[in-house]
Amino acid sequence: MAVSESYSVESAKSSLAQDLLKKIKQSSANVGVIGLGYVGLPLVELFCRQEFSVVGFDIDDAKVDRLNAGESYIGHIPSETVAGLVSDHQFEATNNFDRLKEVDIIVCCVPTPLTRHREPDLTAIIATAEAILPRLQPGQLVILESSTFPGTTDEIVRPILEQNGLEAGRDFFLAYSPEREDPGNKTHTAKTTPKVVGADGDDALAVASAIYDRIIDATVMVSDSRTAEAVKLTENIFRSVNIALVNELKIIYDRMGIDVWEVIDAAASKPFGFMPFYPGPGLGGHCIPIDPFYLTWKAREFDVPTRFIELAGEINTHMPNYVLKKLAEALNDNFSRSVKGSRILILGIAYKKDVDDMRESPSLVLIERLEEAGALVDFHDPFIPLVPHTREHDALSGRASVDLSPEMLESYDAVLLSTDHTPVDYKMISMNAPLIIDTRNKAYRGPDAKAVIVKA
Ligand SMILES: NC(=O)c1ccc[n+]([C@@H]2O[C@H](COP(=O)([O-])OP(=O)(O)OC[C@H]3O[C@@H](n4cnc5c(N)ncnc54)[C@H](O)[C@@H]3O)[C@@H](O)[C@H]2O)c1
Repeated sequence: MAVSESYSVESAKSSLAQDLLKKIKQSSANVGVIGLGYVGLPLVELFCRQEFSVVGFDIDDAKVDRLNAGESYIGHIPSETVAGLVSDHQFEATNNFDRLKEVDIIVCCVPTPLTRHREPDLTAIIATAEAILPRLQPGQLVILESSTFPGTTDEIVRPILEQNGLEAGRDFFLAYSPEREDPGNKTHTAKTTPKVVGADGDDALAVASAIYDRIIDATVMVSDSRTAEAVKLTENIFRSVNIALVNELKIIYDRMGIDVWEVIDAAASKPFGFMPFYPGPGLGGHCIPIDPFYLTWKAREFDVPTRFIELAGEINTHMPNYVLKKLAEALNDNFSRSVKGSRILILGIAYKKDVDDMRESPSLVLIERLEEAGALVDFHDPFIPLVPHTREHDALSGRASVDLSPEMLESYDAVLLSTDHTPVDYKMISMNAPLIIDTRNKAYRGPDAKAVIVKA
């Protein structure tokens, strides 16, 4: 591993790499970003800020039209930013993949979900590579940013791109650089978070590091693309395993009458050797519930067990059941009510605090399970006015967030605090709702709180 120092043009062996390094230094390299979602769009902004011209590619015509009309669909990228880039002719979105021929650098940020059988779904990566193939130009740099298992860039993308005779490392350059975007994080932005880069070959590493050096504060080079792919999965498995651990501790300590949040906060006073992770109602987001299974799938090829990673997934997936059990017990013990027929308000359906992304959110599982059990369920989320289309929970799409008021809070049998957004008035909720099931340790517990509060 090495933190990259800016490459001199002479450091590249081939003239194609030297030409590209020159263009990168002068900001005259044209950049194409494929996949204009939560990862691709912030990246467009970073490139544009350093005076690069960017063409954004997406198969979603509605997104292309909205961006070209100067409209953002991502909470933390203001529409004014997009409008400014479009009117300055620095950025243009398109669904015309022939325009890939115009760019010097192609960065791929397409989705990598799981199939119904929880196996890696590389459809978008393969489609992207196949879209690049007939347009691939000598000297172009192709970088994959999607989270995926070690070997994807080298074993899947590279053979597709080489089908027409151009060779990676000689005629074009291929690299992998994982995205570390953390939506909602105000301390560490995409620019200040170091970027890991791996490539198969010195020239590919030189050009890939050089372009990230221009837009990000520090670039960390690793030996090859598969190491860089493993870095991303390791980071997310680390989170999944540690979250599973505190989720399990929550259940154990609850039975012992010990508050897990108090334990974690006190343990975090240790200045070394402990890092706090917090329990919740389950795991959500595009990364942590999915990425670990990219590694377990690949590990099967090598006949190595991945019990630890799978166990973490199992514990985290089970958490909504635990929360529902606590809710049913609390209704029964305090109000002699059953879940069936109860009116439940889910507070927060985004997968985490202060973001407008609800992919894989455990709140959706909670809504479905409660409705299956006969409850009448509403939700409130200041960041998500309407449930969008999702692959797994499409029956919920179009549902609208309800407004909060003292009267309506009184009308529910329970509030299930699933995601702890900052703008929510937790005091008002505790002063009016009869029961709060608190999965985030966020409920207001002052002397004037009326609600029975149960941590879950
Ligand atoms: N969202 C995050 O916070 C985050 C963080 C780190 C890594 N990642 C990884 O980055 C990748 C992208 O994630 P995202 O959150 O930006 O996804 P996203 O769903 O927000 O965006 C993906 C975009 O790609 C487009 N797309 C799909 N197939 C395409 C194709 N064949 N050609 C062109 N465009 C296509 C979609 O229309 C969409 O606009 C994934 O691998 C994800 O795991 C995401």
